[in-house]
Amino acid sequence: MLASGAGSILGAILESGLTVETVVVDRPCPAVALAEQAGVPAVEIVERESYGPAFDRVAYTHRVVDALKRQRVDVVAMAGFGTILAAPIFDRYAGRILNTHPALLPAFKGWHAVRDALDYGVKVTGTTVHVATEEVDAGPILAQEAVAVLDDDTEDSLHERIKAVERRLYPAAIRAFLDSLPTSATKGTTP
Ligand code: GRF
Repeated sequence: MLASGAGSILGAILESGLTVETVVVDRPCPAVALAEQAGVPAVEIVERESYGPAFDRVAYTHRVVDALKRQRVDVVAMAGFGTILAAPIFDRYAGRILNTHPALLPAFKGWHAVRDALDYGVKVTGTTVHVATEEVDAGPILAQEAVAVLDDDTEDSLHERIKAVERRLYPAAIRAFLDSLPTSATKGTTP
């Protein structure tokens, strides 16, 4: 798993009974303690050396791939991971990286999907589970579910209702994806 942020999606995946061999985060965050408490065998902080223009995204991506390669990882599930990754991870795990996004793709791509949907004034938004590709929020869609926008919603209240759906939909979609893989690839499979 690649996680950061509050880690509630990671928590839902851990509770769902899916086998998680490793959790990699890009900064100290609650996901670390959650993973450790759940007994995930390998929990690693691959910290960014820079947030400015000097940030070497390809080199950083190689460090993340190296952390995953140290464990037996067949499928990578992203949940709020805070760094956009470059080609090396999409080459190494082609078609086997999943992501959950808090909007109905292809609408409202990007980091501020919930705020953007609210600002646009849509009455319905939702969540999308998709295969992640190098192009952000653009890969094949595996599952979607709608969430109504309420008149008095704030970004936080709407995001929380979307995340409640994500915590149910994402583990189920990961399980269905794993079940769809050839048996040889799913032996001991790990999100
Ligand atoms: C989720 O809404 C996910 O779709 C987005 O970041 C949020 C992560 O939530 N990319 P949490 O930090 O796991 O609670």
